[in-house]
Amino acid sequence: MADALLRMENLQRHYTTPAGVVKALDGVSFEIHEGERVILLGPSGSGKTTLLNCLSALDSPTGGTYRFLGEEVPRNQSEKMTSFRRENIGYVFQFFNLLQDLTVLENILLIQELAGKKDPARAKELLGLVGLEAEVDRFPGEISGGQQQRVAIARSIAKRPTLLLGDELTGNLDTETSNKVMEALVSACQQESITSVFVTHDEGLVKYATRVIRIDSGKIVSDEQVSSDKKA
Ligand SMILES: Nc1ncnc2c1ncn2[C@@H]1O[C@H](COP(=O)(O)OP(=O)(O)O)[C@@H](O)[C@H]1O
Ligand SMILES: [Mg+2]
Repeated sequence: MADALLRMENLQRHYTTPAGVVKALDGVSFEIHEGERVILLGPSGSGKTTLLNCLSALDSPTGGTYRFLGEEVPRNQSEKMTSFRRENIGYVFQFFNLLQDLTVLENILLIQELAGKKDPARAKELLGLVGLEAEVDRFPGEISGGQQQRVAIARSIAKRPTLLLGDELTGNLDTETSNKVMEALVSACQQESITSVFVTHDEGLVKYATRVIRIDSGKIVSDEQVSSDKKA
């Protein structure tokens, strides 16, 4: 098998609190290969957000190793961590975070501009990938929550991240809308060959993964391939 995109070994994230040490991550080991779509599932307080924050180098582990494309991921040095994130990580937020004064298309153009490459044709193509070709000139306030989340997905892949992450990204959508958002997400990841890890406590999202990792009390309790899903 090809080298892993990323590998965590015996990763730990302990918090020291007045009440004692909280082992939010307590020896987590796994590797992820290119093209995988991982759902990280676990009850509230199991360590999902902590793990995602370590994956994105928003937070630093207190023990163990984390390598990304063969290199140790920077820790405790905000500048190097920031450039690691900028170069490699895309993120879909639970609360969309779209700019309300810009149209759907302008929200994508802005991200391209910040990345140094404005490309309206590509921006429209990305919005087409998530089924929003008819909404490009509308404002976020004029479209539904599910549509706004699809704009946020198009925006998150505009810079072609190596790894796309999301934390409870359907957390405030109803089931039908969640399914539409996840379908758009899966098709966009497949089209753009993006590896992804999505955190949720919702068993209903398992069907969108190629692999499901379950976590409880800071430890992985199961890790299974659920579909091979190789793009033709
Ligand atoms: N900054 C922090 N200080 C102390 N404990 C924390 C902190 N952040 C998270 N924790 C604890 O770590 C554990 C895992 O939290 P979290 O990763 O947010 O879980 P999840 O996202 O699965 O709900 C919980 O027990 C939580 O209370
Ligand atoms: Mg969480």
